[in-house]
Amino acid sequence: MQIIRVKNYEELSKKAAKILASIITLNPEAVLGLATGSTPVGAYQELIRLHREEGLDFSSISTVNLDEYLGLDGSHDQSYRYFMNQQLFDHVNIHIEQTFVPSGVSSDSQAACTEYDARIEDFCGTDVQVLGIGGNGHIGFNEPADHFIRETHIVDLAEDTREANARFFSSIEEVPTQAITMGMGGIFSSQKILLLASGKGKAQAIKDTVLGPITPQVPASLLQLHPDVILIADEDALSLL
Ligand code: F6R
Repeated sequence: MQIIRVKNYEELSKKAAKILASIITLNPEAVLGLATGSTPVGAYQELIRLHREEGLDFSSISTVNLDEYLGLDGSHDQSYRYFMNQQLFDHVNIHIEQTFVPSGVSSDSQAACTEYDARIEDFCGTDVQVLGIGGNGHIGFNEPADHFIRETHIVDLAEDTREANARFFSSIEEVPTQAITMGMGGIFSSQKILLLASGKGKAQAIKDTVLGPITPQVPASLLQLHPDVILIADEDALSLL
């Protein structure tokens, strides 16, 4: 794992966007694995700037997102589809039909999981996967558990994850209790993983991810086995290393 230490969130965002922009430039048909949450927002803003001011071209890019809340459709303002449209897709020249987010409202959730993995397989995996990390070490919504799950699956959200995400809803009761998430196999199908972490709240998870034992209790610890992981983290997130 390569660790890039940055001073603050702004620098993190610029570094991450630069790596993504270089992948897009070198391969205009690249498949980007994307994440939601607060952490990648700055990188997405920088990608939008690079598109507007420097002509970064998304017209042949495809994207595959990590996860979606179960029960929210794409028009719900807290759904991850809505988030991706607002934060990135609506502002660049990407073809929206080439952007994929798991469906949170499929009548057959198991079939939706299988289809999502087939989609990733059709792409032969992603060229890069952007990841944030939960304070409990989750990646995507692969929550601490007693085993790793390879496939896209339905997951019960951990209570601390619901509490952390309650900031986006008017009350914790509104935060969905389940999500559909890419499994570890989908994440590991990526050529390169870009793990982003900012703030003291991520320090323990980052320490456990980088230095701890590989355990499903800290899902991100499995990244120790991926051959090409770049961790971009600020001083706060690296403060326990
Ligand atoms: C989002 C996702 C989650 C977040 C994580 C950190 O698609 O998969 O794993 O990356 O919960 O969230 P933030 O960035 O809001 O701290």
